[in-house]
Amino acid sequence: MNVGLTSAILPANEAAVAAAARCLQAGGLVAFPTETVYGLGADATNAGAIARLYEAKGRPAFNPLIAHVGDLAAAQKIARFDAQAIQLAQAFWPGPLTLVLPKAPGCTVADLATAGLDTIAVRVPAHRIAREILRAFGGPVVAPSANLSGHVSPTTAAHVSSDLAGRIDLIIDGGAVEVGVESTIVGCFEAPMLLRPGGVPRGEIERLLGRALLQPPDDTDSDSGQPLAPGMLASHYAPRTKVRLNADRLEAGEVLLAFGPNVISGVRASDVMNLSARGDLTEAAANLFGYLRALDARGARAIAVMPVPHHGLGEAINDRLRRAAVGRE
Ligand code: TXA
Ligand code: MG
Repeated sequence: MNVGLTSAILPANEAAVAAAARCLQAGGLVAFPTETVYGLGADATNAGAIARLYEAKGRPAFNPLIAHVGDLAAAQKIARFDAQAIQLAQAFWPGPLTLVLPKAPGCTVADLATAGLDTIAVRVPAHRIAREILRAFGGPVVAPSANLSGHVSPTTAAHVSSDLAGRIDLIIDGGAVEVGVESTIVGCFEAPMLLRPGGVPRGEIERLLGRALLQPPDDTDSDSGQPLAPGMLASHYAPRTKVRLNADRLEAGEVLLAFGPNVISGVRASDVMNLSARGDLTEAAANLFGYLRALDARGARAIAVMPVPHHGLGEAINDRLRRAAVGRE
């Protein structure tokens, strides 16, 4: 692995895609843009590369990874799809949906990547550069978000570099991502379960399936063995600064993460970042992690957050905000 203080950063183009594929083949670690957040990719069949990936992120080894593939046919080589899973894949792939499915018998993905579970998380990303890298590499690529474990997910190459420079081999800079929150994760069990709200709103999935998605029994605590989606540990998305939710006023020394046209009055413009001044949840999702990072860097007493509606992408936004606030009260 790269042991210098920097990692090569290449602008996203044909040469960079080829370099990324070569690096993955050699067991290297490559950060690349997806439509949701930047991912840190490794060859999903190479346990050594995956061990280095966990090490680079400082991620607890019990936390399983998502295998990224180019299309449904490639996904079916590593996971077993029932009719419902195929319906979901056909409706939302390529795109910000991850399916947790039983591993296929011939699955070549290393056990280390799935943390020893007999299920596997799979997704077909929509970002052009991610797709080109997957095509050039030709196999499944595991890719957690390209941040240090517990930090806010990266939505630009600069975020990746500030967390991981010198710890990984290559960063492909494809500009700011489009969606801004991670993929929605659906567990395709007897009854489908929403393991993580994300880029595809719950309502769209429920409409397609004609049924409600179950909630995980307890999605936050890992005391009693293997959590269903361990990455949903309560404080997973935490900035270093304390986060105060549902603010209707600003206290001394705080900065404000606002939402909508009616910002708390009397706050200095330099102390505010507005997720979406026009109250658009898609725009807010795209800005969320970048603004949290920027406000975190101010060294304020706390980041006060105005209420964000819960419908559509608001479910994923509120989930990430709640996790950012946990343990910092
Ligand atoms: O949008 C995304 O999904 C991004 C981009 C890079 O694709 N990736 C991402 O990966 O968010 P990560 O590693 O940060 O989150 C993966 C989540 C974790 O919560 C993990 O616990 C869960 O997926 N997961 C993975 N395999 C699982 C499995 N077999 N069963 C249940 N949860 C699983
Ligand atoms: Mg993550």
